[in-house]
Amino acid sequence: MTLSETGVDSPAIPPSPYAKGLPDRGSAQSSARASTTMSTTASTTMSTTARTTPEASVSDAGWEPPEEATMLRRRAPRPRQGWRALAYDLSGGHWNPGLSEKERKVREREKQIATQLRGKHVAAFFCLKGGISKTSTTAATSIALSNLRPDPVFAIDANPDAGDLAERLVGERQSGITALARDVDRIDSLDALSRYTVTAGRLTMLPGEPNPTLGDSLRSEDFERIMGVVQRYYSFVQVDCGTGVTHPLMRGILGFADTAVIPAAWSITGAKRAAETIQWLQDNGFEQLARTSIVVLTAKDLVSRNVDKDAVLAHLSQAADLVVVPADPHVADGAQLDWDHLQPATREAYLEIAAAITRRFEQPARSVGA
Ligand SMILES: Nc1ncnc2c1ncn2[C@@H]1O[C@H](COP(=O)(O)OP(=O)(O)OP(=O)(O)O)[C@@H](O)[C@H]1O
Ligand SMILES: [Mg+2]
Repeated sequence: MTLSETGVDSPAIPPSPYAKGLPDRGSAQSSARASTTMSTTASTTMSTTARTTPEASVSDAGWEPPEEATMLRRRAPRPRQGWRALAYDLSGGHWNPGLSEKERKVREREKQIATQLRGKHVAAFFCLKGGISKTSTTAATSIALSNLRPDPVFAIDANPDAGDLAERLVGERQSGITALARDVDRIDSLDALSRYTVTAGRLTMLPGEPNPTLGDSLRSEDFERIMGVVQRYYSFVQVDCGTGVTHPLMRGILGFADTAVIPAAWSITGAKRAAETIQWLQDNGFEQLARTSIVVLTAKDLVSRNVDKDAVLAHLSQAADLVVVPADPHVADGAQLDWDHLQPATREAYLEIAAAITRRFEQPARSVGA
């Protein structure tokens, strides 16, 4: 266990099990490190120059060996894709044609997703409409985040109506949230918390409540106390919500949320409910969440030619970011999500959502609901 900069006791992170399809963590972190190295280089250049003037000598009281960063030539990043990667490998690294524009953008996004979180951040995935991909989006985005981020990522199934996030992440129905709500005062260590959580690769999650009667009894205060414990150990939390914004649990979730991810669909009802969700936030004291909302338009259902897609997009234009997720047979199966089984365009979309969430790390303090 290490003490992170946010003052949170973070659990150790296992290596990424998603070697294929997703870039390894090392590259994202090394790009993040690369920028640190560059700034270190810039800031130390002057003092190093001063130290190496003829007047300066080893015996000078203030002499220190030059930092390693100033002695290294900056190397072009190693390409991972296409003929460039092939050329690099075949030449044993002697020929590095550099990154293509496409790969440069991919690296930029990886770096964005790995952005350091100072403080805490909660992303709530919710919409007034049911069956609109809230859980699928929470699951896939959480996997994308956990594979690229240096810190541990946590997901909570807070759907009071028989949530199924655990089924999508670990392949079986599990319960956790109601038991944790009951025992929350007894949780005094990460080990104690881990008795209520499950892991999916590098992601840790708190399963929901499969029994809707029990789930319905969860209250705002339950969520607040659960978050009080979870945020002691995890700074970055994704919350899969139910449909009822008026459910008592929802008020607790929105009180913690820094980012709202709002799933939508190309259908008229799917687009309208998403727009109404933003409006509801706006009208109920969550203006900041409304203003910075990320709408995720999932093209999972058959939509007739009568639907004017441009009009749908215009209808959702109040969202700060809009990401379109293609229909994907693996997601449609509704079983456990395997990142490697997603189509490349689907992976791209979930990575875009992950990047959009991390771009909100520096946003002003969350709005307080009325
Ligand atoms: N990109 C996609 N391609 C194909 N099918 C999808 C996609 N995203 C979601 N689905 C399917 O849509 C259905 C509903 O998705 P999901 O369970 O994520 O919605 P939800 O909003 O969480 O539902 P609920 O309101 O019941 O919690 C599922 O069968 C899921 O597999
Ligand atoms: Mg759901």
